[in-house]
Amino acid sequence: MLGSMRVAIIGQGYVGLTISVGALSAGHNVVGIDHSAQVVSSLNAGKSHIEGISDSEIATGISSGKFLASSNYELARGADLVVIAVPTPLDESGKPDLSLLVSAAKSLGAVLDASTLVINESTSHPGTLREVIKPLVDGASTLKHRYAISPERVDPGNKKFGTRNTPRIVGGLDDVARDEALAFYRTFCDQVVPVSSAEVAEAAKLFENTFRFINIGLVNEFAQIMAAMGIPVNEVLNAAATKPYGFMPFHPNVGIGGHCIPVDPLYLQARASEFGLSSKYIAVSEEMNHGMPKFVVARLNHEVGGLASKKVLVVGVSYKADIADTRETPATPCISFLKEAGAIVSWHDPIVHKWNGESSSPLNGEYDLAVVLVAHSQLNLDGWKGGPIYAANPHPQFPNWIPLISVLPKN
Ligand SMILES: NC(=O)c1ccc[n+]([C@@H]2O[C@H](COP(=O)([O-])OP(=O)(O)OC[C@H]3O[C@@H](n4cnc5c(N)ncnc54)[C@H](O)[C@@H]3O)[C@@H](O)[C@H]2O)c1
Repeated sequence: MLGSMRVAIIGQGYVGLTISVGALSAGHNVVGIDHSAQVVSSLNAGKSHIEGISDSEIATGISSGKFLASSNYELARGADLVVIAVPTPLDESGKPDLSLLVSAAKSLGAVLDASTLVINESTSHPGTLREVIKPLVDGASTLKHRYAISPERVDPGNKKFGTRNTPRIVGGLDDVARDEALAFYRTFCDQVVPVSSAEVAEAAKLFENTFRFINIGLVNEFAQIMAAMGIPVNEVLNAAATKPYGFMPFHPNVGIGGHCIPVDPLYLQARASEFGLSSKYIAVSEEMNHGMPKFVVARLNHEVGGLASKKVLVVGVSYKADIADTRETPATPCISFLKEAGAIVSWHDPIVHKWNGESSSPLNGEYDLAVVLVAHSQLNLDGWKGGPIYAANPHPQFPNWIPLISVLPKN
């Protein structure tokens, strides 16, 4: 059993803070380094900014002296190991943007004063640890460090699978680094799965999310075909899901969002292009998934006999229920298409209070209709006094909502 270690975790967002809490639960000392002064001060005040991580978990870590947040990379000096968990988004042209990872690796290399185990948890293409992170950290340092990777599988808001019971893949640039990383994760994860190289771990992560991306694209296309045939797609999917093997249900929706599903397949696609290849499945699924906001708004437009001058309240602007994350949210294109159709659009979200410099609008304003994109459990429509409520999908608790994807529009 590994004793208590000094761990530095770069990036204190969904992934980094989750690992901080996991490492604290195993008795390690954790310094969470984040370049956001706001994140740092709220963590040091004992407040969590991530759903599923409680204030008390953070406050206990701070008051025990086991956890400290800082923007200063110097605090990584002397760590037994460092975990990198910074964003790896797409740039404006839809290409992988490794700039934050590059900057984190350089800052780290400049402060490490002893040979250290560096673990990457940020999602990126195969070869990132070997060809990007290692040269940058080693290049900024006078020492040789050890490198491992353990792609994060956190599913924010998932109450069934968390850090402890989600199996974790670990690869390394050599066996020593991999085994050290395995020993670290074993202190707070029930199952760690060694793989033969860093590239296997990196590719596995991309394939997991590409699998979802493609199946969501497939079911979104199927939903459109069912709509045209007048067959309720949700009933079809529930019927198909009674098959106990060889079938996994995915559900049509207004689009994909968040930092993983819309992004990771494009990291794979970009890397494939360096080998003169292109995934046709990724390309067509991207088209399908990104086409859903337009499809949903077109259905709404048809249902209401034209959206011009209608006051529309968009309800739920994050990318999924009970999570306040608005990165890559399909609410953005939905609102653009609504405006293009002439609607006067406001938005309401019980857990996203500010978005794009605007505040969530009250529910009891004057609206002709609402369209629910994401139904958070905190959503309370008691004050609603507007017209009909439409929704991307039917909701079991709100039978009066008019679903836009799974039922044919009235003619
Ligand atoms: N969110 C998820 O559900 C999820 C799941 C699996 C994997 N991932 C991957 O994990 C990585 C991190 O994603 P996230 O969702 O935790 O991001 P996040 O935006 O929630 O958090 C990242 C944090 O890193 C900080 N940061 C950015 N650049 C920094 C730098 N150079 N130095 C120090 N701090 C820096 C930001 O201020 C932010 O607080 C990404 O590669 C993502 O694809 C995310």
